[in-house]
Amino acid sequence: MATGTQAMGGATDGMGADIGVYGLGTMGSALALNLADSGFTVAVSNREAEWIAPFLAEAGPLAERLTGAESLEAFVAAIARPRSILFMIPSGAPVDAMIAAIKPLLDEGDTLIDGGNADFHDTRRRSAELEGTGLHFVGMGVSGGEAGARNGPSMMVGGSDHSWEQFQPMAEAIAADFEGSPCVAHLGPDGAGHFVKTVHNGIEYADMQMIAEVYGLLRDAGGLGAVEIGNLFAEWQKGPLSSYLIEVSAAALLSVDTQTGTPMVDVIRDQAGQKGTGRWTLIEALKMGQSANTIEAAVGARGWSSEKAVREMAEPLLPEGVQDAPLPEPGDLEQALLAGRIIGHAQGFRILSAASEEFEWSLDMARISEIWRAGCIIRSALLDEFADAFRGELPGGHLILAPAVRKRLEESVPALRRVVAAGALLGVALPALSAALAWYDTMRRARGTANMIQAQRDFFGAHGFERQGEEGKFHGTWNPLP
Ligand code: 6PG
Repeated sequence: MATGTQAMGGATDGMGADIGVYGLGTMGSALALNLADSGFTVAVSNREAEWIAPFLAEAGPLAERLTGAESLEAFVAAIARPRSILFMIPSGAPVDAMIAAIKPLLDEGDTLIDGGNADFHDTRRRSAELEGTGLHFVGMGVSGGEAGARNGPSMMVGGSDHSWEQFQPMAEAIAADFEGSPCVAHLGPDGAGHFVKTVHNGIEYADMQMIAEVYGLLRDAGGLGAVEIGNLFAEWQKGPLSSYLIEVSAAALLSVDTQTGTPMVDVIRDQAGQKGTGRWTLIEALKMGQSANTIEAAVGARGWSSEKAVREMAEPLLPEGVQDAPLPEPGDLEQALLAGRIIGHAQGFRILSAASEEFEWSLDMARISEIWRAGCIIRSALLDEFADAFRGELPGGHLILAPAVRKRLEESVPALRRVVAAGALLGVALPALSAALAWYDTMRRARGTANMIQAQRDFFGAHGFERQGEEGKFHGTWNPLP
């Protein structure tokens, strides 16, 4: 095995590799192998140099296209210019440290690609910091987990046109394929790619939560076991809910714990962690005056899930106050999930539109829908319909107003109402599904209730209000309190 500044093996000797992948964790290794499998030569390196040799050994025949380099100097030297270097390392401070370390070794025209789940503000800052140095920075969202990275992820690319030109052939070759269309696109400059990935994850959170809520209703109010629910989900996979997340949920419910012989889900603690992308989606939405309440419900529910001790204390103390109600029919649950999914996506796309305006990204919603049709975690049959909807008649640019989407909602919202009502009566929390319905009912009513809020504000704080049909700010003649 070579050490120091020497590169190890590979077919790139003399010519320089097509791309460098730094970071041989799960995602980095899978992407490097995917690139090699697609015929590209790849220089690989890792902070813990001892990971490199085992990675090459396990690569089998693909090792011919892989060059391992233990030092940063050897890694950079092994890549053809102008270089494309993909970082697959933990986001945050490690990316800044990596840029600082590699920068002096690079040449004009080289591109650094951060393929982690980065905060897009960091990506914008890093792009700005590299501006004028001749180096380019690309923030790229990669979705699909390990299997996606190895066999075809969905990739959301930001950064300059120069970088995209360089990276495009490789990106398109390794991306998931949807009926001949690669699930990768250059979506805009600087942080656009990472922002779109963040919102993808927000939608992912909402979708996962709604599926979990339906599971909860069937388990807690219906008394169904994991296998029965898993079989129902597997059935839904054949209909309009067809998606990776339903498929995964069905398979998870049907999996058995080898230790106890009981369903896997029954031995897992009801506490879910989060890395932060769902929360970022919300924070950015709120900053832009948006409120994605389905995503908020999902992030909040994960927070509540970790309050296990409180919930255990509360269960015998807080009265149920439940009322009799029939358990919704499977068909209603299916349609309710569909309505919730449409609304969750519509909220995600609203955030994307707001950000596109705020940061002048000109995001193409149809293209985003298209690259989410395969490879990523939220891939579903609906995304193809959304892509068509964004390309067709779209009043005000709102997904829920597209004719085909309106039709879907017309068919599914009555079921969402029945399911939310049943959950409320039966005492089963459905925070994301209820949020979806609340947003839908708010948006479909031209006259809302904020006049009451304005009255309250002016009453106690003389904040002023606008009168219907008149310009300017007014104060009310309020009755004195008794
Ligand atoms: C993807 C996933 C991936 C990861 C999430 C999990 O698109 O491939 O979104 O990025 O599974 O980061 O996020 P949480 O740990 O926050 O649930």
